[in-house]
Amino acid sequence: MILILLGPPGAGKGTQAERLVARSGFRQISTGDMLRAEVARGTPIGREAKAIMDRGELVPDAMIVRLLGDRIAAESGHNVILDGFPRTVPQAEALDGMLSARGLRLAGVIVIEVDDAKLTERIVGRFTCATCGAGYHERFRPTRIPGVCDRCGGTEFIRRADDTAQTVTARLAAYHRQTAPLLPYYRRQGKLYPVDGMADIDAVAAAIDRVIEGLESAAGSPKCDRARLTHPEAGL
Ligand code: AP5
Repeated sequence: MILILLGPPGAGKGTQAERLVARSGFRQISTGDMLRAEVARGTPIGREAKAIMDRGELVPDAMIVRLLGDRIAAESGHNVILDGFPRTVPQAEALDGMLSARGLRLAGVIVIEVDDAKLTERIVGRFTCATCGAGYHERFRPTRIPGVCDRCGGTEFIRRADDTAQTVTARLAAYHRQTAPLLPYYRRQGKLYPVDGMADIDAVAAAIDRVIEGLESAAGSPKCDRARLTHPEAGL
């Protein structure tokens, strides 16, 4: 099954993808993480991407499509969750082409909906374990023992260079201008599944699980179309 997690910066895409990997065996493909790895390695892509990411803008479509194409091929045969891709209509069209060339089909696009006003608070409070990458939030998802990673016991934490209040404004503007047009794009394909991202992390996870169960059930039994039953936009 191939799923997209869509939503504005700080909506909870990474948080929910991490849970799906841990609980349901999905492979996560995060274009943001892939770009940050290129930056850390100092590759030509990383050098070009860094300034763009620090400004809160999107990197060029051609760069990201090339990166993603190699990765999709490597994950072939697994359940995949795309986190942060596509982000523009040309990227979505490129994805459609990549999947159909491999005889694959996009199962659904889960949109995590959060009010803009909440997003800055979520992003500036975020931090990550420097050892294992587990994600936390000062207020909404603190470590169980202060200063110690729940997952690996690490005691060093990092914050992203683009997690500042100014950059968040630019990232939100990019979302509304370049990524929001994907909503009508996927709605027309009948693949859009909005979930309420204002709820707490566990409630959002439960809503996503219900969408996935509906999709699995629909794929396994054409007569029992639970995806339509759980589809908040059924009939649109
Ligand atoms: P990327 O890394 O994809 O960042 P983003 O989309 O801005 O999303 P974030 O990672 O900031 O947020 P998230 O939705 O994953 O939220 P999280 O789960 O961490 O991209 C970074 C940059 O790379 C882009 O700006 C662009 O330059 C470039 N880029 C990447 N992909 C690209 C592409 N396809 N094309 C072009 N350029 C691309 O949650 C945030 C915090 O809130 C966490 O601390 C979490 O604990 C907390 N939280 C999560 N859910 C909840 C909840 N329900 N309630 C309370 N707190 C919550």
